[in-house]
Amino acid sequence: MSGTTADPNERPVRPDRLPQWEALGEHREQLGGVSLRELFDADPSRATRYGVDVGDLHIDYSKHLITDETLELLRALAEVRDVAGLREAMFRGEKINATEDRAVLHTALRAPADAVVEVDGHNVVPDVHAVLEKMAGFADRVRSGAWTGHTGKRIRTVVNIGIGGSDLGPAMAYEVLKPYTARELGFRFVSNVDGADLHEAVRDLDPAETLFIIASKTFTTIETITNATAARRWLLAGLGGDDAAVAKHFVALSTNAEKVSGFGIDTDNMFGFWDWVGGRYSFDSAIGLSLMIAIGPARFREMLDGFQLVDEHFRTAPPEANAPLLMGLLGVWYGNFHDAQSHAVLPYSHYLSRFTAYLQQLDMESNGKSVDRQGEPVDWQTGPVVWGTPGTNGQHAYYQLLHQGTKLIPADFIGFAEPLAELGEFADQHDLLMANFFAQTQALAFGKTPDEVRAEGVAEELVPHKTFRGNHPTTTVLATSLTPSVLGQLVALYEHKVFVQGAIWDIDSFDQWGVELGKVLAKRIEPALSEGADVPGLDPSTTALVARYRELRGR
Ligand code: F6P
Repeated sequence: MSGTTADPNERPVRPDRLPQWEALGEHREQLGGVSLRELFDADPSRATRYGVDVGDLHIDYSKHLITDETLELLRALAEVRDVAGLREAMFRGEKINATEDRAVLHTALRAPADAVVEVDGHNVVPDVHAVLEKMAGFADRVRSGAWTGHTGKRIRTVVNIGIGGSDLGPAMAYEVLKPYTARELGFRFVSNVDGADLHEAVRDLDPAETLFIIASKTFTTIETITNATAARRWLLAGLGGDDAAVAKHFVALSTNAEKVSGFGIDTDNMFGFWDWVGGRYSFDSAIGLSLMIAIGPARFREMLDGFQLVDEHFRTAPPEANAPLLMGLLGVWYGNFHDAQSHAVLPYSHYLSRFTAYLQQLDMESNGKSVDRQGEPVDWQTGPVVWGTPGTNGQHAYYQLLHQGTKLIPADFIGFAEPLAELGEFADQHDLLMANFFAQTQALAFGKTPDEVRAEGVAEELVPHKTFRGNHPTTTVLATSLTPSVLGQLVALYEHKVFVQGAIWDIDSFDQWGVELGKVLAKRIEPALSEGADVPGLDPSTTALVARYRELRGR
């Protein structure tokens, strides 16, 4: 399958040993400290040539430290790494998540009903659509008030309890699509095992009007099961202790029917999905039930269509016009050839306030790996630290470092031409928001030279302080407006970008073994905190801290 070797038994050539990798290193040296001012002077047409349109998204990558040659060399690397081959294997349902022996088929979650996607010879698309229909029926009943609680009252608040992919996706998408939600219903998202999270979520709620959605792929995650158990206690205490109330106030989203019924939730009230859906790729599965209740099944379908549109684009667009491929390769360019350590995602939409937090799991849990697919330590940088918050807030906080700090931080700016109609009298602030959006990418790219500063009459000793070096690369993603479809398009764009990078780096982007050690240790330490039990194998530093904790708690 790989273009890097003909014999499947032969170890593939490591990415950093490929001539294409070497060529990129040499090209990087040749470019040296070339500036974006020089690049634009040499070729003003890059302003329009370096753009790609996919669905409703216009992606401008002209403000990058690249030339046509850089792009050709990056595409050559993608070709020799056989990104396209791995992509096809993913779409076909092959078990490309080798360490867990699983297919990777989030793309099947948004496939049209007549598509055929087989896992072990079984077409999974009808299963996907059956769950979507069951979700739609339930969502409609909650939205209309036909679904009532134990005492006959209609549901007023939906509380999603989950963590990681079972929280971040629905919580983010609910915020993004808030203007499309049934405003008469309340939605809350509880994830943290810190009791404060659940306490704040339920303290002003009436149990008779509250629906809990317990979202957990495995249904074994300690935070979720602890919060779900506490929520059940709270509900039963509020409704007179009748166990029958659980059936009207708890539903489960999971792949694990046995654990769901073990918890006491009727599997009739369970919405299933499958092991080929990774947690961080799951909010377009049953995990999105809270979102579907919020925005309704038709809007949810629009969102899935947005995802699907970008899936098709990723699968069929030629490399030079393939947006996820380009974005993935640009990340490789900075991470591996400019030593960039982080990547900022800066949405200029308040509704996208949780978007970057969502991307942190998508990207960092996928590509935060240091062994390759063969288990050998990598000698090259893999996934970046992903961070960012909405503009313009960040401008008055950390943008100082972006403009004048010592680090190279590539950034994605995401903005929209139209404010949402719902903003009414406040919509006219939109031009000011977007003026900042455009101003920042210009300032980051082109800066302000010492001569330009002097021309403003600035005292010589202040000139270095008021100079902006520029040359900070950015991608601008511009769409008409923030619709459910556009959200699907954006998320799929980043999903496939992450995929491309994992393929280049030869890592398994779909496992997450790095989260396990902490879980095991926490389980061992907990009894020591409450009962003072000995924890075998605890290091001296942690032992001392545990002793101090017990002392502080008077134990
Ligand atoms: O611990 C990490 C993780 O497994 C994530 O990958 C996942 O999204 C999250 O925990 C929640 O898992 P679950 O949905 O099984 O509760």
